[in-house]
Amino acid sequence: MSLIADLSLLPPSATIEGDDMRIGGCLLSEVAERFGTPAYIIDEQAVRDRAREYLDAMGTRHPRSRVCFAVKAYPSVAMIRVLVSAGLGCDVVGAGELRLALTAGADPATVVMHGNAKSDEDIKAALDARIGYIVVDGFDDIDRIERLARRPAPVLLRVSPGVESATHAALATGGRQSKFGVPVEQVPAAVARMRGVPAIDLRGLHAHIGSQILAVEQFEAAVEALASLERFEVYDLGGGLGVRYQAHDVAPSVDEYAERLVGAAHKHLGEDVDLIVEPGRSMVARAGLTLYRVVTVKRAGRLHVAVDGGMGDNLEHSLYGQRFTPLVIGRWGAELVEADLVGRHCESGDVITPDVALADPRVGDLVVVPVTGAYCITMANNYNVALRPPVIFCADGTARVAVRRETFDDVLAREA
Ligand code: LLP
Repeated sequence: MSLIADLSLLPPSATIEGDDMRIGGCLLSEVAERFGTPAYIIDEQAVRDRAREYLDAMGTRHPRSRVCFAVKAYPSVAMIRVLVSAGLGCDVVGAGELRLALTAGADPATVVMHGNAKSDEDIKAALDARIGYIVVDGFDDIDRIERLARRPAPVLLRVSPGVESATHAALATGGRQSKFGVPVEQVPAAVARMRGVPAIDLRGLHAHIGSQILAVEQFEAAVEALASLERFEVYDLGGGLGVRYQAHDVAPSVDEYAERLVGAAHKHLGEDVDLIVEPGRSMVARAGLTLYRVVTVKRAGRLHVAVDGGMGDNLEHSLYGQRFTPLVIGRWGAELVEADLVGRHCESGDVITPDVALADPRVGDLVVVPVTGAYCITMANNYNVALRPPVIFCADGTARVAVRRETFDDVLAREA
């Protein structure tokens, strides 16, 4: 069986051109030749368009809304700069992501800081930068702010809404056993404690129920849980909207998500509130892809197609069982074979995606793995002293290095 390549998981600019593919007007064979593989590719216009889609979807339904990019999904100055210039704020975890956001030019007033275990340094950095909101995750955050703040700091309280979201257990954050936030029944005590601290200006509540969530009613359930508490002027409803990774996946559009979320907020919390959302994955996942070259094809019980990257640049399958839909560039009409697309690292868990149909892959072929724009660069590592790949931004036919490839000197620079 052969299949015409399904481009619906790639950025909208993707086109097939003979044996090649264009992303943002750039031929992938040329990008590979010029910058090497593996490489993360970002379609810059796709990022801008998605930012606009989110701003319109929220802003038209609720003018008092803010969209903050969850920096953890793509912690790079180049990416944050694009999103901030499009009008987004930032959700940061800790002082490190805050530094990145400020370096990228984010207005501190549009930044919210999370963290279930914020250190003194995190809190100090947030206070010094005078960010929009510190999101208090528990009673120790309250003690720290009380000790460190010199003037009233605007804060939100993160509530654990008791919603067991239907996603991978590692990505669920709003259930009863969660390490994040304050359980609903402890909220009145936390609020009372904060009201006794002059250095804390409690403005609202926050809830985030997890990531890669495809059932919009779960977001509505979180809003309902917040409505059972005292009313505030600000509600940060987190991120979490899921995306398609495989052809048969169905994901809500940003419009559908906004319709249901804002609808629930208006119904349960009222219209006279500020709303914040913090999308990460759904902002950047589809704009990104990873370009590899096939190093070896081996039949050993199973057909293993090994590329020049792997769990060093993509931990999604190893950690969460995520499946991807790779394409072999140029073999568009070729016979499909059932294979495991694996990496070059020294363990059997180093799988990019198992049991996948690949079009007659040969050594030297380019393979594209779509939907790697979120959380892949985030968790890139140096297993087997693999050097972390560059990020190449493609736009209007021009490819540019946004983050250079790591070098051995970078790795050795940390050794005493
Ligand atoms: N807001 C808060 C408070 C969060 O904890 C997260 C994600 C987000 C927003 C953004 O969620 P998103 O829109 O991206 O779903 N390492 C995992 C993902 C963990 C996400 C953690 N929190 C992965 O590689 O899939």
